[in-house]
Amino acid sequence: MTRFESLNSDRLLLRRFADGDLPTLVAYRNDPAVARYQSWSSLSEAAARAFINDLRDAEPGKRGEWFQFAIALKATNEHIGDCALLVRADDTQQAEIGYTLARSHQGLGYGTEAVRCLLDYVFHELEIRRVIAQVDCRNDRSVALLERLGFRREGHFRQSFWLKGAWIDEYLYAMLAAEWRALRM
Ligand SMILES: CC(C)(COP(=O)(O)OP(=O)(O)OC[C@H]1O[C@@H](n2cnc3c(N)ncnc32)[C@H](O)[C@@H]1OP(=O)(O)O)[C@@H](O)C(=O)NCCC(=O)NCCS
Repeated sequence: MTRFESLNSDRLLLRRFADGDLPTLVAYRNDPAVARYQSWSSLSEAAARAFINDLRDAEPGKRGEWFQFAIALKATNEHIGDCALLVRADDTQQAEIGYTLARSHQGLGYGTEAVRCLLDYVFHELEIRRVIAQVDCRNDRSVALLERLGFRREGHFRQSFWLKGAWIDEYLYAMLAAEWRALRM
């Protein structure tokens, strides 16, 4: 298998994390507005270094293992966020995604563009049949991103996740490979 290097879209690269991404990764992972609906609250510099090191020999598409892609601006290679992929341990045709942008780069369509690029890769190259995303029902921007891309809301789970001191509701969104092909035609 060839080593994964990067994917690209009009304005973005989805590439491996590099040591130089450490300051931006630490900055947005410690931004309360970015962390608000995420399972994490903060990231120390040591934990960020370990996060980048652990990804060095990882490959996207390995069953049961999250792979984090750094999102970077194509023009400058500036790191602006990350998106993640987990192929299910018990079924390699099904996957889950996640995504995060630094606040300075929200509102410009980069999140939508990054996830679109990730889905093209997941459905066409990894040959996955079904992708899901789970989102805190209060996370309007994330809900809007998924619906903009054509994800279907399949479920509303009541008090399904303990987050930062409270039980929260989650939506389950999904996209099938056939649906993605039809949307992209
Ligand atoms: C979820 C998240 C990535 C969404 O970010 P976002 O900036 O709203 O999404 P996009 O980058 O796709 O940008 C969409 C916005 O840019 C605008 N836009 C500008 N140019 C655009 C383009 N070329 N294409 C699409 N949208 C564009 C859209 O109109 C939209 O604006 P609006 O919010 O005023 O309607 C971001 O809120 C985030 O990182 N949150 C914290 C982490 C998190 O909660 N992640 C999700 C966990 S489930």
